Amino acid sequence: MRTIAVMSPKGGIGKTTTADSIAYILGEEHEKKVLILDGDPQGDTSKTFGCYETEETGMSRLLEYHVCAGGEWHTPELIWPTKYPHIDMLPANGYLVRTDLNLMISQEENQITRLKKALAEVSEKYDYCICDCGRLFDMVVINILIASELIIAPVKVGGYENEAINSLCEQVTDLQEINPELKIKGILTMRQKNKTSLEFEEYLKTVSGLEMFETPIRRSIMAEKATIAMTALPAFSKSGIVTQDYRSVVQELLEEMEV
Ligand SMILES: Nc1ncnc2c1ncn2[C@@H]1O[C@H](COP(=O)(O)OP(=O)(O)OP(=O)(O)O)[C@@H](O)[C@H]1O
Ligand SMILES: [Mg+2]
Repeated sequence: MRTIAVMSPKGGIGKTTTADSIAYILGEEHEKKVLILDGDPQGDTSKTFGCYETEETGMSRLLEYHVCAGGEWHTPELIWPTKYPHIDMLPANGYLVRTDLNLMISQEENQITRLKKALAEVSEKYDYCICDCGRLFDMVVINILIASELIIAPVKVGGYENEAINSLCEQVTDLQEINPELKIKGILTMRQKNKTSLEFEEYLKTVSGLEMFETPIRRSIMAEKATIAMTALPAFSKSGIVTQDYRSVVQELLEEMEV
């Protein structure tokens, strides 16, 4: 199983849209066996895949009460099927805030490696695990980044967004001491065809030092409509421009991961 995190310290930048679209295209169009993991207490991706509930659920139980943490849960018991045959889910909700606090005060040595250990239980069952992260660099997200080999970092035009990615890159350098295989690759989202946007794209590709996906993701109202409908974008808008762009990104990803 190849584990990929979608992470940016900025809110509303397209993390969930990117994670959901990549998971959907890998699973339902390329017939990979995909586990989508929700690492955000907002539970947005759990809602998209029809796995949201208000009781304590998947990721909270896994990070607090998995057998590797002295608890009673095994990973397969916490995974839900979705309505898509190739996609299963580890859901999350607001309980993840408590989970973060409990991990922070935990005296256990494995407080940042629990997810990696727990996912090892299902590593033969799935080809890909795609993780949607919250925007805080909290204990839940650190667990995800320790378990991942690649961070896909959405970035859009703007000064603060660029600074946020720089600080994420610095944090990744620190994490590489624990997880040396961790890489980061940017993806331009909500791209518009104006001078500022094109100049920023050029800057990202040539000056920023951040490795980028070749394909930028264009801005379209269809993405917002899919979010309102709580449906993965490629299922909502099969031939829309944003879906087409995510298909190209998945092609790039497969070429990189499956050489
Ligand atoms: N390519 C796009 N074109 C237009 N709108 C987009 C695009 N991608 C995402 N959006 C919209 O931007 C909003 C934020 O997207 P999304 O929820 O994916 O961001 P996020 O980074 O996960 O946010 P949060 O920080 O709240 O988790 C949503 O309404 C979504 O539909
Ligand atoms: Mg999100």
